[in-house]
Amino acid sequence: PPLHRINIAIDGPAGAGKSTVARMVAKALQYIYVDTGAMYRAVTLKALESGLPIEDNDRVGRLANELDIVLLPGVDSQRVLVNGEDVSLRLRSLEINRSVSYVARLETVRARMADLQRRMALEKGVVMDGRDIGTHVLPNAELKVFLTASPRERASRRFRELGPEAGITLGQLEKEISERDRLDQEREIAPLLQASDARLIDSTGRTVDEVVEEIVQWGLAAARTI
Ligand code: DC
Repeated sequence: PPLHRINIAIDGPAGAGKSTVARMVAKALQYIYVDTGAMYRAVTLKALESGLPIEDNDRVGRLANELDIVLLPGVDSQRVLVNGEDVSLRLRSLEINRSVSYVARLETVRARMADLQRRMALEKGVVMDGRDIGTHVLPNAELKVFLTASPRERASRRFRELGPEAGITLGQLEKEISERDRLDQEREIAPLLQASDARLIDSTGRTVDEVVEEIVQWGLAAARTI
């Protein structure tokens, strides 16, 4: 019999490899990949562009409620359209890295993002990566994974991703990542947290393919038991 489609939540700290892994799992299962971090980054980009104080819940929240955010699966990564404009290539700057955790703390912004994300998952067959997917956005996801890696390893990955032109040292990057983890873990609403029923994977020293294969097997097993 054909397998049931399930939803897979992949949460974890910055730089744990969630987006690479989630994209490959989605490809293997022919599911849709949803990068929720990109949605918070898109709101941050627009808030910065509009000159809004990024810690102002009312003003940034109102902006978030007016933004139409659409994720399109792409070849290498997904494309992000905000009110029809493709902002994909502008979401990974250091400026956004430094501001996004403040925007992600705002209650109105989180409510809006969770609402959009739940709608994307209604038909099942999504692999969604973020911080609060298993705990808050999709508490009934059939498979939940908490993906982590050592802070040094996560910083090295981001370092390679950014390239030397970014003008930031590995040590600085490690500090910034730790600071972002702290903000994400300590915020009041839907903090970064491993769901009690999530499976933990520490990807330190493991290959991407190994991690992907493990999650795909868990996904297939979960789909069979529905
Ligand atoms: O995964 P990322 O680095 O692109 O995420 C960017 C920021 O967005 C991250 O620092 C915390 C926030 N975020 C969140 O609060 N909830 C999510 N589901 C995804 C991301």
